[in-house]
Amino acid sequence: MASYLVTGGAGFIGSHLSEELRRRGHAVRVLDSLVTGKMRNLEHIPGVEFMQGDVADLDACRRAVEGMDYVLHQAAIPSVPKSVKDPVTSNRANIDGSLNMLVAARDAGVKRLVYAGSSSAYGDTPTLPKREDMPTRPLSPYALQKLVAEQYCQMFTDLYGFETVTIRYFNVFGPRQDPGSPYSGVISLFATALLAGRRPTIYGDGEQTRDFTYVVNVVDGVLRACEAPAAAGHVINVATGGRISLNELLRVMNETVGTDLQPIYQDARVGDVRDSQADIAKAEGVLGYAPRVSLEDGLRATLAWCREEYTAQKV
Ligand code: UD1
Repeated sequence: MASYLVTGGAGFIGSHLSEELRRRGHAVRVLDSLVTGKMRNLEHIPGVEFMQGDVADLDACRRAVEGMDYVLHQAAIPSVPKSVKDPVTSNRANIDGSLNMLVAARDAGVKRLVYAGSSSAYGDTPTLPKREDMPTRPLSPYALQKLVAEQYCQMFTDLYGFETVTIRYFNVFGPRQDPGSPYSGVISLFATALLAGRRPTIYGDGEQTRDFTYVVNVVDGVLRACEAPAAAGHVINVATGGRISLNELLRVMNETVGTDLQPIYQDARVGDVRDSQADIAKAEGVLGYAPRVSLEDGLRATLAWCREEYTAQKV
């Protein structure tokens, strides 16, 4: 049994990591400010130690890493539009907070820190699929902040010999993803619209594509990154290696729900990336990773969860 600190553990991806770690019998401590995370996401997971605190507070980070073997650093303000509106606040969470965690984890003798990177680092470069050694081109403060923090991670490995791994996420979806804002992940928004019998919105012509990754696959990749010997100091994509357009995604979701709701098309979002698809060869080679759950199965599980949530809220 090992001990894991999950920052942002009350959030969508963090709560899935915590759940799987507990299922495997590990000790889990969560550090979460509860700004976007919710206690509700942890309620069903027995034995998680919870600490409320902000990663932008170095003392909170130091208290949280005490006695931990691994840190899974997920805490962030994970929104492109929010970062465009208020870059200072998201900088504080995404860069200052990450640097604090790195310093605290290094000083506490943590074995390895695995960082939640983002495919947004690639920006709108035309080459597909995206390989980790391609040039980056961040298009938003959020993308830049995620990239700076991953470079901090690599620097901590080179400069101080502190082991870090960055996993670049690609459009992660699944149960517990919050559909509460117009800037939520598109699958959570499509799901709530279809279940409520509303027409979903598509920004642009709907032919933009994404490598939508079911959260179980991400959890598997991140947990492999804690232990894979050759991963230290590396940046690694974890996704499916495929891509699907929003029009096609909506068609599949309509079919799964049993609806036929046509989208309302609106102007494309400023700063929107056209196509995104991961090359996952490095994850396969270094982590022994392969996607376990297909897009279709992930969508079915997500829609089943949303249906339950939706029914519970109506009661
Ligand atoms: C981007 C980043 C991702 C990051 C996330 C954080 C890329 C490739 N991905 O995701 O790494 O973690 O921001 O916010 O840069 N859309 C609709 N209708 C809706 C909502 C969205 O058509 O109701 C469209 C968007 O315009 C976009 C696509 O769906 O084209 C996906 O949007 P979203 O789920 O918000 O994720 P990204 O912006 O791709």
